Amino acid sequence: MAIMKKKQEPAELKIPVHVGIIMDGNGRWAKKRGLPRKAGHWQGARVFKTICRHAKARGIKYITFYTFSTENWKRPKEEIDSLMALFVKYFDDVNELIEEDARMLFIGDRTPLSDELKGLMKDTEERSKNCDKITIIMAINYGGRDELTHAAKLIAEDVRDGKITPEDVTPELIQSKLYTADIPDVDLIIRPSGEQRISNFLIWQSAYAEYYFDNILWPDFSKKDLDKAIEVYSERNRRFGGV
Ligand code: IPE
Ligand code: IPE
Ligand code: MG
Repeated sequence: MAIMKKKQEPAELKIPVHVGIIMDGNGRWAKKRGLPRKAGHWQGARVFKTICRHAKARGIKYITFYTFSTENWKRPKEEIDSLMALFVKYFDDVNELIEEDARMLFIGDRTPLSDELKGLMKDTEERSKNCDKITIIMAINYGGRDELTHAAKLIAEDVRDGKITPEDVTPELIQSKLYTADIPDVDLIIRPSGEQRISNFLIWQSAYAEYYFDNILWPDFSKKDLDKAIEVYSERNRRFGGV
């Protein structure tokens, strides 16, 4: 009798605890349609809520979205203004997600953001702090190098003030000074749009992450694409330097 290879059911999959998504390809999505780049950003934002809900349904506990990098300030002012207005709009969706028991966190340097945005971020973190179905993290004005520089400054201050000595500096201490201090390392990083680079995203936290690259543009990214990434992840053999 022929042995049929059984298709893997979702229940058998290894589900990553923490998924990071580099939401890329909005500009190209718009260009293909003869639309302004901002149309791609607004379309991309619509995918966010769908993917958050699907991640929760699949049992993912943490999902981080790379929303705006420390390098994205190099873009034309008009595009930046449109993105900042869009981030404020995101909070309509965020409020719905909180009602569905999602905790919200924000990582990155908030200093240059508007008071309105800073207020929304603070209020949202406070209101959702006891929600526990999934933690949704938005990286806004986030850069891995900026995060490590910030951590190094905090540690230098503690040494200067005599609170610690150089011998106290360990990977655990550095971790505790990151924007992601209480968040587990990222297991799977998904980058759509065809680019195969990390662009300063979670550089410390991704030391042992698996990568999944896809040619699809972020505004076209669907639940099926997340499932595909999880299936590929599930088949990877993670060794963390062991045998
Ligand atoms: C990602 O899409 C969104 C942000 C960086 C804010 P892009 O705007 O980078 O889209 P492409 O890469 O130009 O297609
Ligand atoms: C990375 O995308 C940043 C975000 C998605 C927020 P970019 O489009 O800015 O990255 P590069 O410039 O192609 O590396
Ligand atoms: Mg891009």
